[in-house]
Amino acid sequence: METKWITCMEEDDKECLKEAGEILKAGGLVAFPTETVYGLGGDALNPDSSRKIYAAKGRPSDNPLIVHICRFEDIYRIVADTEESRKMLANARKLSDAFWPGPLTMILPKSEEVPLETTGGLNTVAIRFPSHKTAQALIAYGGGYVAAPSANTSGRPSPSLARHVQEDLNGKIDMIIDGGEVEIGIESTIVDLTVEPPQILRPGYVTQEMLSKVLGTVDTDVTILSDKSGQAPKAPGMKYRHYAPKGQLTIVAGTKEKVAAYINEETDRLRAEGVKTGVIATEETKNLYHADVVKCAGSRTDELSVAKHLYGILRDFDEEGTEKMFSESFDYAGIGQAVMNRLLKAAGHHVVQV
Ligand code: TXA
Ligand code: MG
Repeated sequence: METKWITCMEEDDKECLKEAGEILKAGGLVAFPTETVYGLGGDALNPDSSRKIYAAKGRPSDNPLIVHICRFEDIYRIVADTEESRKMLANARKLSDAFWPGPLTMILPKSEEVPLETTGGLNTVAIRFPSHKTAQALIAYGGGYVAAPSANTSGRPSPSLARHVQEDLNGKIDMIIDGGEVEIGIESTIVDLTVEPPQILRPGYVTQEMLSKVLGTVDTDVTILSDKSGQAPKAPGMKYRHYAPKGQLTIVAGTKEKVAAYINEETDRLRAEGVKTGVIATEETKNLYHADVVKCAGSRTDELSVAKHLYGILRDFDEEGTEKMFSESFDYAGIGQAVMNRLLKAAGHHVVQV
């Protein structure tokens, strides 16, 4: 299959997306930018489209997709209309007023309209209303309900640039819409509203503190920052070794000086053995390292810059063939928790404290 490439920036006229919308309605697949990461879209109400998404990504079919909408009212068609779901919908309305459109996904009981192919066999559905203008226009042209996982091959880091989508999915999907670099760089926060208190299944830009201000108590799935609970993560996708570069990544935690000294000792030793090394550093520390490839993720005072560049750096390591990589550790405040969640997964929870 030939993958068509079009460019549509957020500020551009959206006429160019009509063709993309037609592809979705006809059961085809279109990759598009959102404020978090690029998504691989298909018609969420068409089981064949969902099957195609799993095939293109090489994704296990028990890992459910997020349904993207472009107006709050559209959730009523895809959420079950029961006594039980009414209270959950009231919470959804409150969260929508505070955070939609934006990087938040809510889990609710699904209606008959949503095929089990889209929800990986579950009776719940994940719903998100993205803030990216190109995404919103595409969803509207595509019929209002677009299933979209991140547009990467399963197991690879999520794409923050259209070029990353092309690396993974060229020839496997109908179209890629290039909208430039995404704003946030890591996937949306997922909150499960079917349990009481509501529970965060995946951390993201919208933090527990922000959600608690709107809903009162909000829990976090214990598996998010530790692999020692012995429990399976509640979001099926979080159980897979995700976001992983090909080489082995180790997170090194401690003071700036000790971290740099440890990493330099390791990378000097590895180089002597002929092993290609890489480091994820920051503006403040990038000149301290001796590794073959030193990548600057952003500034330590701006965790959002680290979020935005993290996945691209993991991809660059693969491209440059680094075999052993080290990363500094980051603060858990704000979006830092989401950054550390992705970094810990990329490292297979391999952390050294110095
Ligand atoms: O920011 C995002 O959310 C991006 C963009 C494209 O919107 N999408 C994204 O989708 O990250 P994906 O498929 O890569 O991740 C969806 C996660 C998976 O971990 C999946 O298991 C979980 O959401 N999920 C989806 N539906 C669920 C459900 N009904 N119950 C629990 N977890 C669910
Ligand atoms: Mg994904």
